[in-house]
Amino acid sequence: MRPYRVLGNIPRKRHMRFQENGSPLYEELFGREGFSGPSSLLYHRFMPEAAHDLSEGTADAMTIDREQVHAQGHLKGSDLAIESDLVTGRQWLMVNDDIKIGLALPARQQEALYVNGSADEVLFVHEGSGTLHSQFGSLAFGRHDYLVIPRGTVYRIDLAEPKGTKVLCLEVTGFVDAPPRYRANNGQLTEFAPYSERDFRPPVQLDAGSGAAEVWLKFGGHITKYQRDQHPWDVVGWDGTIYPIAFNIHDFEPRAGRFHVPPPFHQTFNAHNVVICSFVPRKLDWDPDAVMLPYHHSNLDSDEVLYYVDGNYAARRGIKQGSFTHHVGGLPHGPQPGALEASFDRPRETDELAVMIDTFRPLQRTTLARQITDREYPFSWHTGGVRGTTSIA
Ligand SMILES: [Fe+2]
Repeated sequence: MRPYRVLGNIPRKRHMRFQENGSPLYEELFGREGFSGPSSLLYHRFMPEAAHDLSEGTADAMTIDREQVHAQGHLKGSDLAIESDLVTGRQWLMVNDDIKIGLALPARQQEALYVNGSADEVLFVHEGSGTLHSQFGSLAFGRHDYLVIPRGTVYRIDLAEPKGTKVLCLEVTGFVDAPPRYRANNGQLTEFAPYSERDFRPPVQLDAGSGAAEVWLKFGGHITKYQRDQHPWDVVGWDGTIYPIAFNIHDFEPRAGRFHVPPPFHQTFNAHNVVICSFVPRKLDWDPDAVMLPYHHSNLDSDEVLYYVDGNYAARRGIKQGSFTHHVGGLPHGPQPGALEASFDRPRETDELAVMIDTFRPLQRTTLARQITDREYPFSWHTGGVRGTTSIA
C-alpha cells in the first residue's frame, strides 16, 4: 500500500555517520515486527528519547455496556454531541481487543502533540479538512479521505475549521495495510487491486518544530504526558515504507457484476481480525433478472458494522448520514420489507457511500452506544401483526 519513499536528506548508506552543519544526526528505526518487518529510517537533529518529565494523563472515556440481550443495532451517530478535540473527543461506540470504533465531532483544535503507541489509526474524514503534521512531514487532507496513521507517528491535526468536522475513528491493534491478495510477490499492488500506489498520498514537506514539547502518548487507552527536551519534528530526512498516508474513498475503483458482487470486492484495508471496506457509487447488477439488493446473509464468524456517509441506502430503512448499523454474529440480516419491490423500477446504479468494518471477534457496545440506539431497529424486518412487548432497553 505504501511504496518506498524518500523525503529530505538521508545518508548514502544505512547506519553510517551523518551530520548537518558539523553536528551529528541521530538515526531512528521506525520498524514493525521488531527489526524483521517493514520500516522507515528517520534522521533526527536531537536524540528522539530525550525527555525531562512525565505524568499521567486522561484515559479513554468508555464504559462497556453489559447487555442482557443481543440484537441487531442501529446507532444514531448524528445524535452525538460536539465534544473536545479530535484526540480526546473520540466517542467510542463499539470495541473489542482488535479495534475501537467511534466518532469525533471536535469543538476545538487538537491541544497537544499526540502519538498512539498501541494502535494504528484509520480516520475517515466524513466532513472537514486540514493538515496532518508529524515527524514524517505535512499531509493535507479533505472530505472523504481516509487517513491511515501508523502507531508511533507523533502528530497534530490542524483542522481548517473544527466546527462541522466529523471523523469516523478506528483504532486498530493490528497492522493496517492493503489486503495481501492485492499485492504481487514483491509487494507492489497488482492490476487486480481496486487502487494503485498513485492513489495513496504521502507527506510532502518536512515539518519543523523547535524547543521543548509536550507529547501525549496513548497506550492501551491511557495517555501519558511526556515533556520532551526537543520537538519531535526535528527530522532532516527519512526513507522507508512506514508513514502516514491519505486515500480518498472516491479513488477506490468499485467492482460491479451482472449479478450482485459480495462485500470482499469492496475491501480497502486489512488488519488482524479486521476488514475495512468502501462502498462507493457504482453500477449495479445489470442482468434483467438480477436482484439489485444484497442478499440476506449470516456472517457466521464476524460482526459487521456499516457507517453511512452519503447517498441513498436502498436496503436500509431509517438510516441516515452518520448512522451505524451493527449486525451481530448468530443472526441473519438483509434488505428490509419493501426494499425488493422498491428496487424493481430503480436505475441499476447506486450513489451510496459507506464504510464497513467486519470484525472476527464479537464487538461490545458502550454505554454511549446504548444512549443513541434506535430501539425499533431489531424489529425492522417484522411484517405486520402484534410484536412482543418485551423491552430491549
Ligand atoms: Fe451485511
